[in-house]
Amino acid sequence: MSAVLTRSPVWRALARDAARAHSGALLRDDPGRAERYSLALDDLLVDFSRHPLTDATRDRLLELARERGVPERIEALFTGAVVNESEGRPALHTALRSAPDASVVVGGEDVVPQVHRELERMAALVEGLRAGEVGGYDGRPIRHVVNIGIGGSEAGVTMAHEALARGDEPLRLHTVSGVDGRELAAVWQRIDPAATLFCVASKSFTTLETLTNARTAWAWLAAEAGRAVPEQFAGISADDSAMARFGLPEARRFRIWPWVGGRYSLPSAMGLPLAATVGMARFRELQAGMREVDRHFREASLAENIPVMLGLLGAWQIGLGGVTGHVALPYHPGLRRLPAYLQQLDMESLGKSATRDGEPVDYPTGTSFWGEVGNNAQHSFFQWLHQGTGRVIAELQVPCDEADLPADHRGLTLASALGQAQALAHGQAPAGEGAAAAHRAYEGGRPVTLVLFRRLDARSLGRLIALHEHRVFVQASIWGINPFDQWGVELGKQVAKGLIPAARGEAEPPATADAATRQALAWAQRQRGGA
Ligand code: F6P
Repeated sequence: MSAVLTRSPVWRALARDAARAHSGALLRDDPGRAERYSLALDDLLVDFSRHPLTDATRDRLLELARERGVPERIEALFTGAVVNESEGRPALHTALRSAPDASVVVGGEDVVPQVHRELERMAALVEGLRAGEVGGYDGRPIRHVVNIGIGGSEAGVTMAHEALARGDEPLRLHTVSGVDGRELAAVWQRIDPAATLFCVASKSFTTLETLTNARTAWAWLAAEAGRAVPEQFAGISADDSAMARFGLPEARRFRIWPWVGGRYSLPSAMGLPLAATVGMARFRELQAGMREVDRHFREASLAENIPVMLGLLGAWQIGLGGVTGHVALPYHPGLRRLPAYLQQLDMESLGKSATRDGEPVDYPTGTSFWGEVGNNAQHSFFQWLHQGTGRVIAELQVPCDEADLPADHRGLTLASALGQAQALAHGQAPAGEGAAAAHRAYEGGRPVTLVLFRRLDARSLGRLIALHEHRVFVQASIWGINPFDQWGVELGKQVAKGLIPAARGEAEPPATADAATRQALAWAQRQRGGA
């Protein structure tokens, strides 16, 4: 498939386009491009006029989308076809937030009723918790929820909670992800054992970090209560029998399905700890925002389709234009964790070097993805964005509403974001000759996506998430790679498993350990005072 892409005349023409345009110059010469190269969805505006795009390039990108079967791939995604080829299954995250009267038949069974049944079960627990009707081992109501999970079984909950919690919620959320027991120990200090629900979130229910933390939490709670307390645990997984073996009561076992990727699972029961803390209403709003983007993605023409255009721009500039990264810059402190969430979505989905049919790619695919609250980033890595030799897509995400800000603060965030966007696009020619002028020159022409929306709330957050899910899908479709598997994470896990006895100082390193690993193990042993 890679050969097909690189042999495509339109791809070759796009290679020539990639070397040419400077977005600042384009904007100067054609002010009308701001409107022409922006797309709106309700109050959300996505402005890609600061990308080096011309009308001819846009036409070629749209032709490329048709040539690579993007419309067919979109339809396949929504209708439950096997779009995750290496694992032989569909990727039905859109079904997780579908309307109850929708229908997606997989293997002869409509998955939508199952999805809604599980959401209803989750809602019942959430309402009970929030009403103070669910008690702990001494009868007092649950007031803390601890999410034990990692990656896609944690990042969305943490990110959305940070964005949506107002601080007056009846339950407090705590999250534990890493295998280092200090994280859990810190949580013990902040919770009341008799008033805590532990949610063990793991699609596979085999993840080392999560299962280790879950067992420790189980034992800790049993020690506090003087007996095992399964009713203060809930589980979310695609493996019901593993949850049962762990000891979770049936009423507290929530199901997701093999066709939900962990990083796409937030709108399912994986969102239970989020819904318990911010409420079912906001959880449903989050789903509604996602659903709006799903509808847009499925129904809008290619040229008017926001995720399609963003995906095409990414595939083109990364594949052919020397762009080596994507940086997310939310201009709102509540979106502090959004870059990390999108990082997993982007890098786990697009970090592939083989096409869907197993051919090595001969063009760059996924890049580094990172980010930070935009205003803070201006005072750390923006120097690199403006004058470094690297080239990345800078995506500024800016809510417009300022009604809740003190008067002196109004306008400052928007001005900061727009100022940076303009500087990145236009740059500044050196004023004069010599070293001083060179140090003050900005090349400009940096690709910038500006995302403006009315305010940060559950709906707008849902839209942002779904926009990126589908943008990633389009990029993957152009490059011919599978965005729904992640085989690359397995090897390190396997090697680590074999090293545990030696890392604990209980055994010699396995024969497979190389010299560098042996040296590190021995060094660590000496630092611990071992042999
Ligand atoms: O190691 C990566 C990964 O498999 C992610 O894809 C996933 O979100 C995370 O680990 C957690 O997996 P699980 O939900 O199965 O515990």
